[in-house]
Amino acid sequence: MSVSNEAILSVSTIFKIFGPHPERAMDMLRNGADKNEIFDKTGHVVGVFDASFSVKRGEIFVIMGLSGSGKSTMVRLFNRLIEPTSGSIHLNGREITGLSDKQLLEVRRKDMGMVFQSFALMPHMSVLENTAFGLEISGVPEKERLRRAREALAQVGLAGQEHSYPHQLSGGMQQRVGLARALTNDPTILLMDEAFSALDPLIRHEMQGELIRLQAEQQRTIIFISHDIEEAIRIGHRIAIMEGGRVVQIGTPQELINQPANDYVRTFFKGFDSSRVLKAGDVAQLDPGIICRLNGKAPQFRAGADYGYLVDERGHLLGVVDAEASGAAADDRHRLHEQAPVYTDTPLDEVLNIVASLPYPVPVLDRAGAFKGTISKSQLLQTLSRH
Ligand SMILES: Nc1ncnc2c1ncn2[C@@H]1O[C@H](COP(=O)(O)OP(=O)(O)O)[C@@H](O)[C@H]1O
Ligand SMILES: [Mg+2]
Repeated sequence: MSVSNEAILSVSTIFKIFGPHPERAMDMLRNGADKNEIFDKTGHVVGVFDASFSVKRGEIFVIMGLSGSGKSTMVRLFNRLIEPTSGSIHLNGREITGLSDKQLLEVRRKDMGMVFQSFALMPHMSVLENTAFGLEISGVPEKERLRRAREALAQVGLAGQEHSYPHQLSGGMQQRVGLARALTNDPTILLMDEAFSALDPLIRHEMQGELIRLQAEQQRTIIFISHDIEEAIRIGHRIAIMEGGRVVQIGTPQELINQPANDYVRTFFKGFDSSRVLKAGDVAQLDPGIICRLNGKAPQFRAGADYGYLVDERGHLLGVVDAEASGAAADDRHRLHEQAPVYTDTPLDEVLNIVASLPYPVPVLDRAGAFKGTISKSQLLQTLSRH
């Protein structure tokens, strides 16, 4: 997936208040008032409240939250379709919030692609013309824009459809045209606001896969807005959760599931099958008492332990030994560890069957083979029931 650590978009203490006198609302905010109080007393709406975060080059960054939580306001601040009340935004080191109108148009043309929920295709234009439309507005010569439009259509799997018209396409295909149009200028960031929310579930799933593929092939930076947790988890490297204009938590799906910042975040994951995102390494526990080393003689077991996990001097697992077969006999003839290895990054749902089928807690290794701990049936049940 190749996500760099370099920030491509940085948002710093951004506020957006809707209404004629935002200063007054800002003062109230600084004094601790919340969105509801400000609305009740002043009629101003807090769109985004004190947001600071960075999006890394090459990541799919999902912004999630209930309707009205400020997601659309946030992306519109990125391309300055909405002007912030205060704060700054940098794209690729350049301050977006300080640009003149002319510079802003240039940045939108060169660095940003946008895909919205509605397809917004021109009914009388062919797929190819629709795709090239943005470039036409930007003044790109015809030959060049048609070449780039064809290339973008091929990227989204629409080669051969250039001369169709929107009404001849399914919803999914229309949204592919929307995506192709956003790709024609090879944008630094792709902004997608609920782009798949209007699609049927199957088509939606297919488009999510398409986006994951595009990101992997081209290392695109994508900011994707969604109100759907399944979608956010499937496509997001990281997810920002918004509540009432605030970004309440940012993290990987695992981090949000493991340590939700508040009940609002927790509620999103309610009913979500967390075994699909939790990894074996999230659950494995290391009890040093179960590790045994050969040291040239029979392995030593801690009193009461049923099984020992035999490791070599580098900490790599050699096998699992049954404590019953104690003494000199407990050498490699009694190694039980035979199943496919479970690694720290193995998804928990793939571990379930293995844990269930083994009499001993399943050993978990890192990718280098080092023993990192074990998962027992009861640990697994506890983890899953907690979530
Ligand atoms: N132009 C506007 N004028 C006044 N209030 C607005 C405007 N745009 C959005 N809002 C309000 O800002 C809040 C955030 O809206 P929005 O960003 O559209 O949320 P989301 O995309 O998460 O559903 C809501 O309370 C909404 O009513
Ligand atoms: Mg919205």
